[in-house]
Amino acid sequence: MNNLPRHVGIIMDGNGRWAKKRGLPRSAGHRAGAQNLKTISEFAGEMGIKYITAYAFSTENWKRPKEEVDELMNLLLSYLRDKKILSGKKVTIKVIGDRSALSDEINKEIDVIEDYTKNNDGMVMYLAINYGGRQEIVKSIKDMYDDIKEGKIEKADICENLISERIYTPDVPDADLIIRPSGEKRLSNFLMWQSAYSEFWFSDINWPDFTTADFTQAILDYQGRNRRFGGV
Ligand code: FPP
Repeated sequence: MNNLPRHVGIIMDGNGRWAKKRGLPRSAGHRAGAQNLKTISEFAGEMGIKYITAYAFSTENWKRPKEEVDELMNLLLSYLRDKKILSGKKVTIKVIGDRSALSDEINKEIDVIEDYTKNNDGMVMYLAINYGGRQEIVKSIKDMYDDIKEGKIEKADICENLISERIYTPDVPDADLIIRPSGEKRLSNFLMWQSAYSEFWFSDINWPDFTTADFTQAILDYQGRNRRFGGV
C-alpha cells in the first residue's frame, strides 16, 4: 500500500466491441462503460489512489457519426447530472479539455458538479472531455505567450515547469500508470505531457468487462516495475 500510483490514467476503450459481441447498439457499450467508470473509480478511491483521469471524449472523437457523438454527449450530460456520482466517497470531479466546443447545457452541468464536489477531500477524478494532449500543450504555449506579452515572464524563464504549470492538471503529479484495455496499445493523444515516464498496462478485456480484480492486477504489476526515470 505504500507504493500506490498517485495518478492513474484510464483509456476506456472497447465499448463498441463489447456491444457488438452482444448484438447491442454501440450506445449500450458506452452506457456500460460509463457505469464501469463509477465502479472502478470508487474502488480506486477506497484503495487510496489520489487522482484518476478518465478519457471520456477526445478532440478526435468528433469524427464519429453524428448519432454516436450525440449519444456520447447525452451520456456525459446525464453522468454529470447524477449528483450521486461517487457520492459519499468524498470524490472531487473536475473536467479537463477544450470546453468551448461543448454545449451550454454541458458547460453548465460541469460548473455545477465541480462546485458541488469542490470541498470533498478524497480522490480527484478528472474527466477528459474534448481533450487532446497536443491541444493541451498548444494551450499552454498560448498562455505562456500571453504572459510574455504582459511582461510576467521572459524567454529565459521558459522551462518544463512553466509548461507543467499551464496544462489542465497543474497541481497533479504526472501519470504514474496508464491503463488501456481492449487490445490497443497506443496513447491516442492522451496525457502526452504527463506520460513522459508513465508505466503502461494493457489487456485484451473490453472496458465494460474490466473488473476491480483487473484494476488490482494492474496496480500489482505497476508495483513490480523498476522505475528509473532515466537513471540507473
Ligand atoms: C472508446 O470505445 C471509448 C470512447 C470513445 C469514449 C469513452 C466513453 C465512455 C466510457 C462513456 C462516456 C463517459 C462518461 C464518463 C459518461 P470505442 O467506442 O472506441 O470502442 P471500440 O473501439 O470497441 O469501437
